Amino acid sequence: MRITVTVDGTSYTDDVEPRTLLVHYLRQQLGKVGTVVGCDTSNCGACTVHLDGHSVKSCSVLAVQADGSEVTTIEGLARDGELHPVQRAFHDNHALQCGYCTPGMIMQSIDLLADHPDPDEQTVREGLEGNLCRCTGYQNIVRAVQDAARHMRPGAGPAAERVGEPTGTASGIGGGGE
Ligand code: FES
Ligand code: FES
Repeated sequence: MRITVTVDGTSYTDDVEPRTLLVHYLRQQLGKVGTVVGCDTSNCGACTVHLDGHSVKSCSVLAVQADGSEVTTIEGLARDGELHPVQRAFHDNHALQCGYCTPGMIMQSIDLLADHPDPDEQTVREGLEGNLCRCTGYQNIVRAVQDAARHMRPGAGPAAERVGEPTGTASGIGGGGE
């Protein structure tokens, strides 16, 4: 089946198998390997991307379901060489250890902050409960999200990601997975 999807500001038209998962389309056909696979059961959240501005686990979405939609991955967050405020906050607060969960954590955190611009600790923990960190670095992750909230205007998040094409190739923090 032929699909047209805008990913990180660039439009792609490709033929895909009906059963191809969005995460495999992103990684294997588009080379967006910053989005990673941590499980095969929709449990870990490592594969989280934004589909039309809301976070989804891309291993639980078919590529054909993204036809006509806009997808943002961890690789599309940086602007003009500047990390997204949530990427910056994860860096500044040492919110990653092995980094495997980080792309999904960041994408989910941005969605969380769009709904809760000033979240308390409990709200962050509940908002990230679908994302697992094998390194159990949750304390710093929560701290990073609250720090990012302080650096982002209320309502920023998915809408802010749709401003123009990303520039450069910097995928930033969490975007260098294999
Ligand atoms: S790889 Fe998608 S939820 Fe684990
Ligand atoms: S930093 Fe290693 S899985 Fe979260």
